[in-house]
Amino acid sequence: MLNNILDKVGNTPLIALNKEKSDLNVFAKLEFYNPTGSVKDRAAFYMLNSLLNRGEINSDTTIIESSSGNFGVALSAYTKLKGLRFICVIDKNTLPVNEMLIRLQGAEVIYITEPDEFGGYLLNRIKKIKEIISTTENIYWVNQYENPLNAQAYYNSLGNELCLEAPRQQLDYVFMGVSSGGTITGVSRKVKEKFPNAQIIAVDVEGSVIFGAEARKRFIPGIGSSIRPKILNDAFIDDVVMVNEDETMDSCMELLEKYNLYVGGSSGSVYAAVKKYFSISGVSRSTNVMCVFADKGERYITTIYNPEWREMVLAYNAKSLLV
Ligand SMILES: Cc1ncc(COP(=O)(O)O)c(C=O)c1O
Repeated sequence: MLNNILDKVGNTPLIALNKEKSDLNVFAKLEFYNPTGSVKDRAAFYMLNSLLNRGEINSDTTIIESSSGNFGVALSAYTKLKGLRFICVIDKNTLPVNEMLIRLQGAEVIYITEPDEFGGYLLNRIKKIKEIISTTENIYWVNQYENPLNAQAYYNSLGNELCLEAPRQQLDYVFMGVSSGGTITGVSRKVKEKFPNAQIIAVDVEGSVIFGAEARKRFIPGIGSSIRPKILNDAFIDDVVMVNEDETMDSCMELLEKYNLYVGGSSGSVYAAVKKYFSISGVSRSTNVMCVFADKGERYITTIYNPEWREMVLAYNAKSLLV
């Protein structure tokens, strides 16, 4: 028996996505089975426990972080559980349901409305945090983009699970969406230890600068970034697949129709990337591909699953390609 639902982090289901008989065996790790609904529970749970155990923070410490959604939701739940004050810096792209959950779980919310030079909000969110830190005592900035504990969380949990659960102990590819870089850094390090020949494929969206592409306005949160996270310097990445937001939204619909999976944006991006990658390279033998599906569709009910919103994004992206 558990004392609290928040203790049930990890050990999420792994499901097979194969409908056709093929040598390509695709599996999805359903991270929305984590207590607050996303892969970010793993980072929030592990980081706060490690910091408390090491004495780097105490019950009087204020935790501050910039998050456009899932990490904010996870941190607000785990800081509340630990009795810590939490300030979450969010922005105009934050999904209303995430903002509601963050506030309901007792966090103070600071809302950034001014876009940065790349058209996103991240740089201005970070600027705000630096201002607050400089005037507040006993405050800890989680800093998911640089904090090695973020990657360690995934090395110890998700990376381990993927290795243990690989069917017939064969792991050929892992596809993951990238934002702070914590998931891919931790998972890639663990997977390469156990399966040195496994290929780690980073999935990013057009408009994100993480892998050197040009910055452009992006609508779907949870994947991509307007900076290259430092944490990625420790990742082992064999290839990068860029997908656009149209492909992401189509793939979300396809997953619902074919597999009854109602997933969030980055899961659609990952599935789109798998299809794109293997439509070019194909496979010549039985190949196990693991995908990380980071969150669930409910949080995207007014966006990806709203036909009017989809039309708006399609029209915007089509127009910006013409310019
Ligand atoms: C929906 C979703 N997918 C993927 C990711 C990427 O995870 P990471 O920040 O570890 O790169 C996040 C991170 O917030 C997310 O919310």
